[in-house]
Amino acid sequence: MFRFGVDYYPEHWSEARWEEDARLMAEANFNVVRLAEFAWSKMEPENGIFDFQWLDRAIDILALHDIKAILGTPTASPPPWLMSKQEDLFRVDQDGRRLTYGNRREYCPNNSLYHDLSRRIVLKMAEHYHDHPAVIGWQIDNEFGDRCYCSICRKAFQVWLCDRYGSLEELNEQWGTAFWSHVYTDWSEIPTPLNTGGSPNPGLALDFFRFASDSYINYQEMQINVLREMCPGHFITHNLMGFHYKFLNYFELAKDLDFVSWDIYWRTQWNMEADVDPSWPALGHDTMRGLKGKNFWVMEQQSGSGGWELVSVSPRPGELRLWAYQSIAHGADAIIFFRWRTARFGTEEYWHGVLDHHGEPGRRYEEIRRMGAEINEIGQLIHGSQIQAPVAFLLSYDSRFAFQIQGNNPRFSYPEHFHDFYRAFYNQQVLVDIVTPISDLSQYKLVVAPALHIVTEEIAKNLEGFVRGGGVLVVTPRTGVKDEANAVVDQPLPGLLAELCGVKVEEYCSLPIDLDNGIQFSINDFPSTSHPAEVWCDLLQPKGAKVIARYTQDYFAGTPAITLNDYGEGKAVYMGTMGKPTLFETFAGWLLDKVGVKPTLLVPKEVEVGERWQGDRRIIFLLNHSEATQEIPIEGRYIDLLNESTPVEGILMIPPRGVFVLQEG
Ligand code: GLA
Ligand code: ZN
Repeated sequence: MFRFGVDYYPEHWSEARWEEDARLMAEANFNVVRLAEFAWSKMEPENGIFDFQWLDRAIDILALHDIKAILGTPTASPPPWLMSKQEDLFRVDQDGRRLTYGNRREYCPNNSLYHDLSRRIVLKMAEHYHDHPAVIGWQIDNEFGDRCYCSICRKAFQVWLCDRYGSLEELNEQWGTAFWSHVYTDWSEIPTPLNTGGSPNPGLALDFFRFASDSYINYQEMQINVLREMCPGHFITHNLMGFHYKFLNYFELAKDLDFVSWDIYWRTQWNMEADVDPSWPALGHDTMRGLKGKNFWVMEQQSGSGGWELVSVSPRPGELRLWAYQSIAHGADAIIFFRWRTARFGTEEYWHGVLDHHGEPGRRYEEIRRMGAEINEIGQLIHGSQIQAPVAFLLSYDSRFAFQIQGNNPRFSYPEHFHDFYRAFYNQQVLVDIVTPISDLSQYKLVVAPALHIVTEEIAKNLEGFVRGGGVLVVTPRTGVKDEANAVVDQPLPGLLAELCGVKVEEYCSLPIDLDNGIQFSINDFPSTSHPAEVWCDLLQPKGAKVIARYTQDYFAGTPAITLNDYGEGKAVYMGTMGKPTLFETFAGWLLDKVGVKPTLLVPKEVEVGERWQGDRRIIFLLNHSEATQEIPIEGRYIDLLNESTPVEGILMIPPRGVFVLQEG
């Protein structure tokens, strides 16, 4: 069933209002709410004293309106009685400062008392709700993250390392501790990479980042174990933060969940521009779908201005519905809006919900209610339908972490570079999956590996197999530079991928922040000839590959910049530099042409096209991200699912911020 609902905090309002809330929710066609996720002090007001009666009453009222409940475990925001027990419950940041009470997410994920008291509240909730007919599933904690550098974590890190390396000899060898005399003779000597220690050994720092990620995965697993045992009939998820979030290996975090859900905000106080770029949320959705190769839920879909101290640019009419349909177009099987009624108090007084502070329905409620009626009609058809993407991007958290330690060039950013290339495909209406470097790639025609810095034997084999079998692989600068321990490889770059790419990086040139180079394409079928080259230039020496572009300036003018190598049945493209969006876009177009991928429909650039398959039925989503009506020429036979399945043909006029959901045939 397609779930459509809202995040609800009944504990913020008088009980006298709950019935009216439930009635308005049912009128908006909501069939699910998320509850309790920050309500620890309401459920356990004193150490060991539990009270679920208020929550029972809230769930009962909602159930009378056919609204089911997802329960959040409340551990992202512990009560003061707990946090005042011991100082070491608080996380220590990278500067060595211990956090204090007053916000949320301040706990150390390796603290054993925190584990014990978390386990107990989760167990009590599970005992109470495991057979409640209105409860369908669980969200663990809230938006895991942030690294803790405390002494408890330091000890746990040492144990983690012992487990990984087996011996100090091995660890010293891998990290290269001969450098600056860092040879460890006892596990207890190993530090955490605090800022006070200066720029750390890259091997140590990368392992610490992996360990910090594993710490939350273990903490999550502890809660999952309780719930799996007590509530076998319920699903378990966690609300993640999309592509942007950089401190956790989300592929690993997602493994233990039944499905991924995530929180997507377009307009927040941290993003006050008039225009929002829809390719960013699109990348977020595709990443979240890629974590398990499976449809996902949106646990928090924006329903109003988002802000704490500032008020974000207000969502314009139509945007909330448009954004929610974009989530669906990218694989959401549930949309849950954050939040129901805007809080009158607390840090998030300006994080607006479906209703304003006063609680009366307004424009945003009406827009969402309209969408609820539509979902009532088409939800069944959409739910579970699949996305089939011809292109995959390889996301490597190891590489991302490594760049957090050594950024290589002040203008280089792994996520920005990744997005630059992704947007080139997004703008050409081509569907993209985001997968790991060791995922099975056989279903893709084209695979892009942006700055795949750390390449293991396993990754190299996987990519070779893909290209040998006929795939086209594209790699970009700083690929294959590092081994798993974050040391630079001892072969010519791109290291383990050099043979596959048929190229050697003879030398590289990290560009000044205020000076670019240029490239000139030297092949006939490339649609444009010259482009600026920015940030980084790999000077290539072909070892069998064909040159497709050369640098135009400076001491390396004329040196190869981009090459293409025939390998097995496929091709490997080495792109030795970066550039403006037009470079990526032209390049993506040329690549798509090579592999024979065409967009589903030809549309104006303001319109996004999504596509999901329910068996052999193709469902097309048209999303107009602009303020103007757009014209879309329709070829073939389609029916308009949001308009009583009326047939559409000829020119389709899509209003500003408008949405069409079409079915082929
Ligand atoms: C996150 C959290 C929510 C809420 C919103 C708004 O996504 O999950 O609890 O705090 O942000 O800040
Ligand atoms: Zn800690």
